[in-house]
Amino acid sequence: MPRKILVTHALPYANGQLHLGHVLESVQTDIWVRFQRMRGNDCLFVCAEDTHGTPIMIRAQSQGQTPEQLIAAVAKEHRQDYDDLLISFDHFHSTHSAESTALSREMYQRLRDAGHIARRSVRQAYDEQAKMFLPDRYVRGTCPRCKSADQYGDSCEVCGATYSPADLIEPRSTVSNTTPVWRESDHLFFQLGHFEGMLREWLSTSRLQEGVRAKLEEWFAAGLQDWDISRDAPYFGIEVPDAPGKYFYVWFDAPIGYPASFKALCALRGLDFDAYWKAGSDAELYHFIGKDISYFHTLFWPAVLHGSGMRRPTSVFVHGFLTINGQKMSKSRGTFITARHYLERLPAEPLRYYFAAKLSDGIEDIDFNLDDFTARTNSDLVGKLVNIASRCAGFIQRAGGTLGTTLAEPALQAEFVAASEQIAALYEARHYSQAMREIMLLADRANQYVDQHKPWVLAKDPARAAEVLAVCTQGINLFRVLMGCLAPVLPAMTQAATKFLNTDLSRWEALSKPLLGTPLNAYEPLATRLDPARVAELIVPASVPADAASKPAQVAAASGAAAATKKSATQTAKSKSTEPLAQIDIADFQKIDLRVAKVVAAEAVEGSDKLLRLTLQLGDEQRQVFSGIRVAYQPEALVGRMVLMVANLAPRKMRFGVSEGMVLAASGSDDSSGLFLLSPDTGAVAGMKVS
Ligand code: 2FM
Ligand code: ZN
Repeated sequence: MPRKILVTHALPYANGQLHLGHVLESVQTDIWVRFQRMRGNDCLFVCAEDTHGTPIMIRAQSQGQTPEQLIAAVAKEHRQDYDDLLISFDHFHSTHSAESTALSREMYQRLRDAGHIARRSVRQAYDEQAKMFLPDRYVRGTCPRCKSADQYGDSCEVCGATYSPADLIEPRSTVSNTTPVWRESDHLFFQLGHFEGMLREWLSTSRLQEGVRAKLEEWFAAGLQDWDISRDAPYFGIEVPDAPGKYFYVWFDAPIGYPASFKALCALRGLDFDAYWKAGSDAELYHFIGKDISYFHTLFWPAVLHGSGMRRPTSVFVHGFLTINGQKMSKSRGTFITARHYLERLPAEPLRYYFAAKLSDGIEDIDFNLDDFTARTNSDLVGKLVNIASRCAGFIQRAGGTLGTTLAEPALQAEFVAASEQIAALYEARHYSQAMREIMLLADRANQYVDQHKPWVLAKDPARAAEVLAVCTQGINLFRVLMGCLAPVLPAMTQAATKFLNTDLSRWEALSKPLLGTPLNAYEPLATRLDPARVAELIVPASVPADAASKPAQVAAASGAAAATKKSATQTAKSKSTEPLAQIDIADFQKIDLRVAKVVAAEAVEGSDKLLRLTLQLGDEQRQVFSGIRVAYQPEALVGRMVLMVANLAPRKMRFGVSEGMVLAASGSDDSSGLFLLSPDTGAVAGMKVS
């Protein structure tokens, strides 16, 4: 019987871009979901924009937008990011929706009717100019303990003291910069303490991770406090049905976004909502989250669900934070890397693989080390995995393009198939790093198998053609098992491999049956090496504002001459300045002979730390161009690449030789924004004219 599983990951706030920390969670969740689907389970994956609350309201105001406009724009960006990261949601909704409103109100009413909501007065900072109550974080002032100026209303970043905004010396509202007053207002409280027995019982059955369980025990020991679930108008949120002018606190309706999104999916697919959410449901429900929000997901959320007659999560899967090169992500260090900044430079799958290679079922932090990322993905995906297919494919093509009808070593195949079951168990338990290790050990074995049988030697003897086919058929079959095992991590590469192999890799069980006598399609490279220069660009230099890094750069000619001599360096600087350049007419433009060229050789120029000597193929002729792009490119990575060049630039005699043209590159307004060579789209041929 297939298992009925519903999976979610944390709803992203609709007021900012996704960063690599979000991506880690999305990838962890998506791998698990794709794995479950491959196993034949009925696994649904839903999420939504987390749209409510003061920060979103204030941000929209400061941008001269309505909150609805802000969240719509952000939702669009998020969707594009998730699509490009290959995250396979069944549905992505919004907490600012009819489903969320209805369900939040309904669940609240059930909690109230069952006696779990209390009402009492709260004294709070109020901004008379902005006419709003202020969350603690919107009040700043001098710390009552250490007297440090400009501290938040709830805690001091200097001495660590925690207090209430009323304790601050000279408090002021960050919304209007006026001094707040103190006002009383009625609030609604969810009585979490009513659920301690239920939560303890849930703790014993939900198989939470050790660290998470320990935290819960700590919270029980400290005593479960009532939780204030209401906020006064003006608030961008859902109005409480029996308390006009009061809204649900964003953290009340945020997790309700999970069932609300699922409800919208039910409408689209004709699914039964209650079968998944009603108390007693036999469906499994899992939430993937970061450790910072486990309080909400392991205390409030199961209690809110239970108190309103719904089922509790089967479990909550918690992960640690992402660090970059061993340190917390930081805007000033340039390591606050947005998903878009990454995707504008590199494909999603190496990152998916790298995260998989680092993730376990633990809550420790995960480090994204840039050098390790390049080395690991190049060595594992290109050097090991793809290598098996690429070295066998050509021989099969030459033998007629169809796989042999028997395996050369059935015992080896059986070992791989058996290992694939152990790998499945590792995925199920979220031990992805161990799964990746096992897969790469098997890839080593498959490559050794090919090495031992040396089809390239056998192929020299026409009498041994059958052996060549048998060895390569075996190699391809080993590759197929491994590709199938990696399908949850590398969906696009799996799709390309599916096409090449003419096979189905969407079901785990299909891996146990060898692929024999099947015609293959033409082999196209399944992965290419990461260029370390592109990876290095992930870090935004400190002088460049993080959000400027993704802004359009201007195009400048990366001429060797410009970078190599002082005089020309000034010219480059001038061309990059913000002063408007002189207008040119079409005739001026037509004077420039712009061409597509192919880099056939590239090397560093001895005696210069800026220059690369490029040999460019331009139709029938070759040109030597010195280009000042050494800071951004490794010469090896350029060979074979198409570039755009100015072909009729007067030759320039330089200390190292004559430069016969210029290649085009984009760069920002200062040298620290990086250099980006321009290339034509695939299909352009060296020598083509650019106009
Ligand atoms: O911490 C966050 O980013 C929240 N937006 C997560 C909400 S998860 C769920 F409870 F809605
Ligand atoms: Zn202090």
